[in-house]
Amino acid sequence: MILPIVKYGDETLREKAVPVSFITDEIRKLAADMLETMYAARGVGLAAEQVGRCERICVIDVPKDCEKEAYRESNEAAARMPLVLVNPEILAAEGEQRDDEGCLSFPKIGSPVTRANTVTVTFLDLDGMRQTLTVSGLLARAVQHETDHLDGILFVDKLSQVQMLSIAGKLRRLKTATRRGK
Ligand code: NI
Repeated sequence: MILPIVKYGDETLREKAVPVSFITDEIRKLAADMLETMYAARGVGLAAEQVGRCERICVIDVPKDCEKEAYRESNEAAARMPLVLVNPEILAAEGEQRDDEGCLSFPKIGSPVTRANTVTVTFLDLDGMRQTLTVSGLLARAVQHETDHLDGILFVDKLSQVQMLSIAGKLRRLKTATRRGK
C-alpha cells in the first residue's frame, strides 16, 4: 500500500522515533508499505516519520551502479537491496564526502551536504537478526540521512547559512503548503 509522504512543515518530521521491541507482522507490513511508497516516489530511502509513523525503521535501495562501491567493505549477503533497518544505530563514521542531497519530504529541493564517507551501522533485520554493516559512498550517505530522520534531524539542518538563504523561499512555500494542507 502506498502511504502519503509527510512533507517539511509537519512537526512529525521533528519527532524522535521509538525503538521497535518485537518484529511483528505489523512491522513487516509497515516495511513493505514504506518500500512501495519509496519506489512509487522514486526515492532511495525513506524513514517511518515520513509516512507519519514513530517506529525506528527506515528502508533504503540505492541504484545498481552504486552498489559495487557501496558494498566494497560490507557483508554482501546482509547488504542486499533493498535494506530494511530496524532500530539502526551508527557505531562508527570515517572520512568525508560531499554531494547533492534531496529528500522525499522536500520535493524539488536539494543542496550539497557533507557526510562521513564510510559508516558502520548496526540494526535488526525483519527476521529479528542483528546485522552490522560497514558501507561507503551513496549507501553510507543514505544510512546517515535516514538515521538522522529517526532522530528528528533533516538534511536542511546540515546546510550552511548561505545554502539556507538560497533555498529559503522554496522552504517557506513548502512549509506554508504543508500547513495549509493539514
Ligand atoms: Ni529524507
